[in-house]
This record gives sequence, structure tokens and C-alpha cells, in this order.
Amino acid sequence: MRRLTRPGDITLFETLEPMPADAILKLIGEHKNDPREEKIDLGVGVYRDADGNTPILNSVKKAEHWLVGTQTSKAYLGSRGDAVFCDDIVKLVFGDAGVNDDRIATVQSPGGSGALRVGAELMLRANPDVTMWVSDPTWSNHIPLMGNAGVKLQPYPYYDLDQNCIRFDEMLETLGNAKRGEVVLLHGCCHNPTGMDLNREQWDQVADLVHERGLIPFIDIAYQGFADGLEEDAYGVRLMYGRVPEMIVTQSCSKNFGIYRDRVGALSFVAADADAARVVDSQALSLVRTIYSLPPDHGAAVVSHILNDDELREEWRRELAGMRERLGEMRTLLVDELKRVAPAHDFSHIERTTGMFCYLGVTPEQVAALKKDRGIYLVDSSRINVCGITAGNVRYLAESIASILQEPEQRAPACDSA
Ligand code: LMR
Repeated sequence: MRRLTRPGDITLFETLEPMPADAILKLIGEHKNDPREEKIDLGVGVYRDADGNTPILNSVKKAEHWLVGTQTSKAYLGSRGDAVFCDDIVKLVFGDAGVNDDRIATVQSPGGSGALRVGAELMLRANPDVTMWVSDPTWSNHIPLMGNAGVKLQPYPYYDLDQNCIRFDEMLETLGNAKRGEVVLLHGCCHNPTGMDLNREQWDQVADLVHERGLIPFIDIAYQGFADGLEEDAYGVRLMYGRVPEMIVTQSCSKNFGIYRDRVGALSFVAADADAARVVDSQALSLVRTIYSLPPDHGAAVVSHILNDDELREEWRRELAGMRERLGEMRTLLVDELKRVAPAHDFSHIERTTGMFCYLGVTPEQVAALKKDRGIYLVDSSRINVCGITAGNVRYLAESIASILQEPEQRAPACDSA
């Protein structure tokens, strides 16, 4: 290998330590490179259809054709991105009440992650010591993403691994000790990784607590439409929006429009009044300019076209409902198959989860065995992406899971709350 340094030189990059690959993203390559025909990918959160493919939605394809045929310029739009797209997302997430509300400032972002990072930077500009409470567990990238930006993170109890339910009382107790002005990260719907969402009464109680204690809700909504429906899944965001003076919302179109690699999302700030919103907006735009200057346009233009075209919007809603229904069916199929092959074990919690994910409830060693012996790929925490299940592979999957479950008593009975 050619080396251009002189003896004794210390190079900049030599000071760096190698980093481990991301725990979720590395599964993409591992599964791809596995030659076994029967392999199953339950790893990264992308939708798969009954044939195991991640198709481009018909509504998206049509909007792309329209875009290619009609777009006359690719000149810069500015750091906000497409203002019409931003309005569309406000309507989608906040509902009609959000339309033209001058308390809301929104910028288009490169996916939900781009929104999270700019949101983190803005909180830090406002308060360099800002503390954010995150659910234990949360999406594995929330912690490095927010933490690397400099946000101080504190966990609040969320999921009981033994009982497979939400530790709601402990969550309230912990957040009850949070200090005024601290931020609470909540998953709008389809909690990642557990798939266990707050029900409406629980959301109401969290909203009361956040309001009483002067906390700031930061809601990450990356799966709107995958739990109960577009409107239903926005319950938490809309509830908080009606209650609190300030909040932050990060949104992603990756999943509900299936445009993962196009990187489309939005970041919204709800401020105390229109003047405050204008200041926040200017800060957000200046942050975007210094981080990535402007967001990518293609996917946002596609989403905006779909949302503003009656026929395409209806087609998209139907396609989204189809994805949601398939997830429900695959949950039932897996639980039924597990009942058959592992009757001593209780996996009924899986049917109480929503969205793409749930925990299988096995150890990292058992996850490693599934990968090595069976070609089944899932995150070490035993989070599975339900989309990876098909009618054709569910029997193999259930039998494989049964083969690693040695002691029936290792699982406590699932609780039925939540
Ligand atoms: C996931 O949790 O698998 C998805 O949100 C994809 C990602 O970036 O981690």
C-alpha cells in the first residue's frame, strides 16, 4: 500500500479510533451477503410486501412521472426547502387547526434524522444546558444523534421487558421530577423499538403532567399512518399542540410514503406567539444554512404533489392502509404460528403492538443464534421488523424462534394493559 507520509509524521486521521458499524444499518449488508435461501430480514425499518419487496408506491411513481414531466428548474429553493410542502406537512401532522397558525414555524428536512439534528441544535442555541428525557428504550439513533449534538440525555422508564407493557406509573413518576423547561422526547406513534404506544388516556395524563410542570414536548412522528390511521396516529401531537405554549415536532415521510432514500421530513416549532415563532424560524433557517445549506427537493416535491392532488392523495391513503393492514395480519400470523410450535411461551404482546416493530423478548445470545444458525436477522435487543414476515416464511420463522427457546419459564406472562 502506498504511503505518502515521511517518517515521524503524525497525520490528522491517525488520531481517530475505528467506530463500530451502526447496529441497525449493518444488518442490511449482513442479510444481503448471506447466501442462505431461507434467510429472513427482520432488521432495518423498511416496509416489505407479501413477496418480501420494498416497492415504490403507485402514488409516488405517478407523482414522480408528473414531476419529471413538468419540472422546469432545479434552482435552489432556499434553506426552508419547499414552503408548500411545509404547509402540507403541518396540515398532515397538526390537522386543520395548524393550517396558517402563525405560532408554527416549519422547515423541510433531510428525513426525520435531519429534523432531529436541527431541532437539537436549536434547543442548544436556546439553552446550552438543555436536558432531554428519552424513553428507555428509544430508537437507538436518538441517543447518539442528540447526544453528539450536545444535548444532555436522561432516561425515563417506558417498557417492561418481563411483562411486555408500558411502565406508565414509573414514567409519570420520573417525568414528575423533571425540571421546568426540560424537554421530553415522545414517539408520536408506533414506538420504536417496542411498538407499544401510549393509549389516549395515557397521552392525556402525560399532557397534563407536561403542562403542569412546564416541560417542553418534543414529538418524533416517523410512522404516521402505520398504527391506526393518519388522523388517529396524530392524537398525541394534536393534544399537546392544543395544550402547551411551546413544542417541537420532527416528522418523516420515509415510511408512510416509502421514500426512504430520498430523505424527506420536516421540523416544526410551536412557539408562544407569532413574534416568537418568527424568531425561532429565523434561527432554524440559519442553522440549516450552516449544517447542510438546503434540503434535497425531489421527494418533498413528490409528497407535496400527492397531498395536493385529490386522486393521488386518495390512492396514497389506500396504499398506506394496505401497508398498515398487512402489518396487523403478519402479527396475528406470527403469534398463531408461535402458539402452535411453542405453546408454553406467551407471545400475545406482539398483537398489542403497532407499527413496524416489537420486541421478541429473547436474549442477545439467542438473537445471535437465530442469525448464525437460521439466517434470521434482527437487532440485538430482539426488536423485529414485522414487515419481514410473510405467509411463506412464518412457519420457518416460528420454528426457528421455538428452537432457541430453551426454558419456558424464562418469559413472565404478558400483562394486558396498554
Ligand atoms: C429503524 O429504526 O430501523 C429505522 O428508523 C431506520 C434507521 O435509520 O434506523
